[in-house]
Amino acid sequence: MAHPAADPSPLTLTGGGSLRGTVTVPGDKSISHRALLFGAIAEGATRIEGLLPAEDPLSTAACLRAMGVAVSPIEAGQPVTVQGVGLDGFREPEDVLDCGNSGTTMRLMLGLLAGRASRHFVLNGDASLRRRPMRRVGGPLAEMGATIAGRDGGNLAPLAIQGRGLQGATVRTPVASAQVKSAILLAGLTADGPTTVIEPVQSRDHSERMLRAFGADLVVGGAGNTQVTVTPGAALRGQHVIVPGDISSAAFWLVAGAITPGAELTVQNVGLNPSRTGILEVLEQMGARITVLNARDVAGEPVGDLQVSHGPLQAFTIGEELIPRLVDEIPVLAVAACCAEGVSRVTGAAELRVKETDRLAVMARQLGAMGARIEEHADGLTIQGETTLHGAEVDSETDHRVAMSLAVAAQIASGTTRLHRPEAAAVSYPTFWDDLERLRA
Ligand code: S3P
Repeated sequence: MAHPAADPSPLTLTGGGSLRGTVTVPGDKSISHRALLFGAIAEGATRIEGLLPAEDPLSTAACLRAMGVAVSPIEAGQPVTVQGVGLDGFREPEDVLDCGNSGTTMRLMLGLLAGRASRHFVLNGDASLRRRPMRRVGGPLAEMGATIAGRDGGNLAPLAIQGRGLQGATVRTPVASAQVKSAILLAGLTADGPTTVIEPVQSRDHSERMLRAFGADLVVGGAGNTQVTVTPGAALRGQHVIVPGDISSAAFWLVAGAITPGAELTVQNVGLNPSRTGILEVLEQMGARITVLNARDVAGEPVGDLQVSHGPLQAFTIGEELIPRLVDEIPVLAVAACCAEGVSRVTGAAELRVKETDRLAVMARQLGAMGARIEEHADGLTIQGETTLHGAEVDSETDHRVAMSLAVAAQIASGTTRLHRPEAAAVSYPTFWDDLERLRA
């Protein structure tokens, strides 16, 4: 699943024109991974509707299949069935497990595999994933007795796991990360006593919601739901999971609709879990014209349709507390900031440096090439508003969210933008380019 180092045929994007119509974004990436993984360790079958048919969940499914889990083919619009093998049923894989570009796959699997006694697993990924820090998961798992080895003292993949029985523990995580929290909870499912994770700020809670629905004994507490305890012993039972559309994918249309003159868009079936809706709060802070319609609950997750239209925007301020609730939306919000009145500021966002790319550096570099007045700091960005962007030669640098953010910027830029490595979008939104073409028509 490596992305080509150089793309001989960049995508040409013409600025100007408007955006109109209705779009249904593909399934939530975080929920899709969890549905596959939790289905695999449950007893009985799990049926998943709306699973994201993109490269990242395909990586998770391939790893599971390599350990003896039957996962039906993943095709757009088709339900997926996972035949669970139970909490300790994974077969030792014969080969390296390839997590592709997916941090969620690698981190959650570390938690799931560390406790599989007398089995050996090796996790690897593409060049981007091999640069991403894994000690944040391996460290807490080691406190529970896990044996994980890798480059840079166990921090970097390829990672080798020698499965063994784990002890329950109380772990304080230094960063609010749902991947870290979920890995520890998954390891805790088969430890010899309760495990508690305490986060500085609550990260997305899809694991907690879904593990409970599968039957796990899980208690959430602490100020602002920052403390989660899992008590082993409960069997997980296969479930019917309905995956809502990904708000992180909807974010591109929300920003595109808010900044493109004359735009009117409706994004259907978007997951509105409060641990993910920071983007809506920031757009509201900016004065964007966004309406939530048909708010409803679908299989334990809040869902709604979002209507957005173009209008004047004010600059935003995003601080550390809000980051976990919009961590993946900063690149596209940087584009919105160029169109707002005033200076927008992001602080407390050092986590963006260890995503699929260093998103602070990459957005400053790529958006800067289009004329943005964007300044990079150790933990954030400062962006001058009321800037006219111009078409340029830009590069996703293999990052899916950068690719789509630059497409939104190209939409309002003057002239033509040539985007290198646009195929990165397929990591989370394979039909993005088709949707863009249709909404522009
Ligand atoms: C994810 C959590 C976030 C997010 C990533 C998906 C998840 O990462 O950026 O795209 O599914 O748990 P962190 O937990 O590292 O912040």
